[in-house]
Amino acid sequence: MIIAIDGPAGAGKSTVARRLAEELGFQLIDTGAMFRTVAFESERAGLDLYDEQAVAALARRLCFEFRWEAGDNVVYCNGVAMQQEIRSAEVSRNASIISALPAVRQVLLEQQREVGRERSSVLEGRDIGTVIFPDAELKAFITASPEVRAERRVEQMCEQGLEASYDDVLQEILDRDRRDSEREVAPLRRADDAIALDSTEVEVEEIVQLLLAAVHALAIP
Ligand code: DC
Repeated sequence: MIIAIDGPAGAGKSTVARRLAEELGFQLIDTGAMFRTVAFESERAGLDLYDEQAVAALARRLCFEFRWEAGDNVVYCNGVAMQQEIRSAEVSRNASIISALPAVRQVLLEQQREVGRERSSVLEGRDIGTVIFPDAELKAFITASPEVRAERRVEQMCEQGLEASYDDVLQEILDRDRRDSEREVAPLRRADDAIALDSTEVEVEEIVQLLLAAVHALAIP
């Protein structure tokens, strides 16, 4: 079974996807972490992030795997765990840039399908329901207002002991939304058959329970 969870950054997708994977015992595939890793490795290799063929060639050499470790879903790239180094603001920006390159998306599309076909999975991203697994058994599109998403991000950063300015974070979110939604290939949009959910006012746990009920309804013959 494939469950597709799409939506913009900070809408609560990760929490929902993670809770669903835990409850159902499914593999959790954080596709954003794959784009982040490609951005991080490209920068480290000194590539021009707009050089589509060079970044795609690098992506082709990466092999991804997801493992649960101490209650965390960790992405491994060529056998190495990727941790906080792929979560910085710089990597967020760079991931958004390289994710607009069609050749890079094509490489990651194949890798995402390959990992997803191994076993029942929850995939979290931007185009899972529209492009990667258009036949997913369950699709959800989760949004929230940019202001609420910025507040949550600032809170998260403070908890991690990082300094954060609300205005900068909000601007960063608006820029990223624009780039992710306006790109020509696989832009961020809701699949026609995805359940639309807004976490601005609804608790994330309520969304989890609603989706779990939807999965169980599917499983009944
Ligand atoms: O979900 P995230 O913030 O970790 O994603 C990082 C970037 O990768 C984001 O700006 C958009 C891009 N992305 C994408 O284009 N398609 C996906 N399926 C997942 C992420």
